Amino acid sequence: MLEKPFELGTTVKGKGPTVVLLHGFLESNAMWHYLDLQTHFTTVAIDLPGHGLSQKTPTVTSIQLMAECVKKTLDAMHIDEFHLVGHSMGGYVALEFVKSFGLSGKLILLNSNFWQDDEQKKADRLRVANLALKNKKLFIKSAIPGLFTDNANHQNEIEAIIAEAFEISADHIASCSVAMRNRRFHLNTLKSVGKKVVILQGEFDKICPPEKMEKEIVGLEINYLKIPNAGHMSHIENTSFVRNRIIEILSNEN
Ligand code: MLT
Repeated sequence: MLEKPFELGTTVKGKGPTVVLLHGFLESNAMWHYLDLQTHFTTVAIDLPGHGLSQKTPTVTSIQLMAECVKKTLDAMHIDEFHLVGHSMGGYVALEFVKSFGLSGKLILLNSNFWQDDEQKKADRLRVANLALKNKKLFIKSAIPGLFTDNANHQNEIEAIIAEAFEISADHIASCSVAMRNRRFHLNTLKSVGKKVVILQGEFDKICPPEKMEKEIVGLEINYLKIPNAGHMSHIENTSFVRNRIIEILSNEN
């Protein structure tokens, strides 16, 4: 494994204030097309190691190194003023980025969280890594439908995500699972961004449950919104709500 950061694949679209977009596990920059944010912003959608345009990168087993790769990519593009939006694992990378490098704009965590895995989840990450190494296709086919609340209504999208995820190597999938297992607790990072962070959580998200989030943020001055009729894939399950909230949040000067 290479410990030094490297540049990642990016897709740049639109005009206006820059928004850096970080997708989740088994996704790619393609997830952002649902939200069509380039009508209001310059979107810089980065493909994390192993995913999308970054399929051929070395494997990475830490979220910190993923954040360093994001920094290296943005530095190479001379991008230093931007908002940051991370979906799920992309949110973990976003928090690590903010801790290490700061952030001039706002931070949106979409179906993500700031805590560490408990012991049971840590064990499950290793199970996932082993399953991916043993039978990648089986793992992908069983994992993706469960991200949706009403998967019967999203068959086409599920098939498209599965087909795309088949392109990710088993080594990369296993490494990402280990990286998520090892991720750090980011309560202080969140506190450091304070009002500049907004958490958007699908009301039926089983991976980042809103009930847990509501307990974890008691007493903190964190902006938090529940996304109605959505599970973990809220950008697909309730596209207009997520799109409108992101545009409002990032267009508002306060
Ligand atoms: C993701 O969607 O990025 C992952 O499922 C998040 C996680 O497993 O914690």
